[in-house]
Amino acid sequence: MTPLRVGLAGLGTVGATVAQLLLENAALFERRAGRRLDLTRVASRTPKPDVNLGPATFDTDLGSLDADDVDVVVELIGGVTSAKEVVATAIGAGRHVVTANKALLAAHGEELFEAASRRGVSVGFEASVAGGIPIINALRTGLAANRIDALAGIVNGTSNYILTAMEEEAQDFATALAEAQRLGYAEADPTFDVEGIDAAQKLAILAALAFDATIEFDGVHVEGISGIDIEDIRYARELGFSIKHLGIARLHEDGVEARVHPALVPDSVLIAKVSGVMNAVMTHGDAVGPTLYVGPGAGGPPTASAVVADLVELARGTLPVPRPAERRLPDLGIEGVICAHYLKIPAIDQPGVFADVADVLSRHDVSIEAVIQRPQAIRSGAEPWVPIIIVTDEAPEAVARECVSELGRLSGVTGEIARIRVADLTAMMPPAPPAGA
Ligand code: HSE
Repeated sequence: MTPLRVGLAGLGTVGATVAQLLLENAALFERRAGRRLDLTRVASRTPKPDVNLGPATFDTDLGSLDADDVDVVVELIGGVTSAKEVVATAIGAGRHVVTANKALLAAHGEELFEAASRRGVSVGFEASVAGGIPIINALRTGLAANRIDALAGIVNGTSNYILTAMEEEAQDFATALAEAQRLGYAEADPTFDVEGIDAAQKLAILAALAFDATIEFDGVHVEGISGIDIEDIRYARELGFSIKHLGIARLHEDGVEARVHPALVPDSVLIAKVSGVMNAVMTHGDAVGPTLYVGPGAGGPPTASAVVADLVELARGTLPVPRPAERRLPDLGIEGVICAHYLKIPAIDQPGVFADVADVLSRHDVSIEAVIQRPQAIRSGAEPWVPIIIVTDEAPEAVARECVSELGRLSGVTGEIARIRVADLTAMMPPAPPAGA
C-alpha cells in the first residue's frame, strides 16, 4: 500500500503533538492502518525550530500544503478565516481534510461538507468536540443502530476546570481561569470558553451528527459561567447538586432544542462527578437507551489523539465522505424548556419577606422543593441582607423568568436574583424499554 501523505497546518500545542505522535508511533500506526502515515509537509506562520518534524518539509506559507506530496491536510491553525481557506483549498484540490476546528465547522460546516461530498473527499473532525473522547466515532458507528433523540454533557474543559477549582479548592474565578490558560486548555480568547461559545459550537456539531440535521449555531441558546458565584456552588452542594456547564440538545417533533448554560446536576447523575478538564457526553438512543462517554476534553495530547485517530481511519479507508444532512430542523430555542430552578434571592431580614417571595411563586403555580436560609449568627460576613435559596419544582422558562422579574420588584428584595436551571438528565434520558415492551 502507498503511504498516506500528511500535510500539517499549524504547530501549536496540538499540531506539535500530532507531529510527535506521527514520528514516534509510526510503526504502530502502520500496523493498525495497513499503510504508513508519512508527515511530508508542515506549514505554520510561526516557525517552531524546537519541534522535531522528521523528514517533513517546513514552510511559513500555509499555501505550501497545496502540493502533490500531500493526500490529507490536517488543519490545526484555529480561527475561521485562514482555516477556511486552507480547508476549502484542500477540498477543491481533491485532498482529504482532518480538522479540530469547531468554530470553522459551526460557521461553515454545511458549505465545506457539501464541497467535500461533491469532490468525494473525507473530512475527519473527531478532535473538534470533547478533545480525546471518540464521541464523533461513537455517534457515527457504535450508535448507528439508534435514532438519537437527546444528548447532553460537559463539552468545554476550561469551564469544567474552573467550576471544579471553585468547588473543590474554593479558588476564585480569575485564578482558576489563569491556571486553565497556563495548562493549555483555554481558547486564544478565553471568553469563548467561559461565555459558552465554544460549547455551543461543539453542541451544534454533535446535534447535527446525532439528529442527521443541519443545526444552525445561531439557534443555540448560550449562557456562560462568568456569573456563577462560589456561594451558589456551596449552596448547590448542600442541596445535593454540582453546578456544571452543560450543553443539551433534544429532538422534538417540531424542531430542535439546543442550549448551553450552567445547571445544577444531581449527585446521583454520573456527570455530576466529572471534574477538572474532563468532558462527558451522554446520549439517548431508542434501542440502547442512555450511554455515557468520559475523557479529557482539552489540551494538546488528548486532542492530538483524536486527530491521529482520524488519520488512521482515513488510511484504512473508513473515514467517510460527508453526505448532506437529511433535513433542516427549526430551532426551538429555550422557550419550550420546562425544568426546576435554583434561585438565590437577596432579601431584607424582616417579617413577611419570605411570605411575599412564596406568594409570587404560588401565584405562578410554581411549587417550592427546597429552601435554605441561614440565621445571621452563622452567616459569613455581616451583610444586611439574607440570601434566600430556593429550588423550585419544574416550571416553564417564561414562568421562571416572570417570577424572577416579579421577585426583583418586591420591596424586601435588595439586589439581583441568581437563577440557575436544574438539569434532570435522568428524566431526559430514560432506560431503553425492556424486550417485548
Ligand atoms: N478550549 C477548549 C476547551 C479546548 O476548554 O474545552 C477544546 O476544544
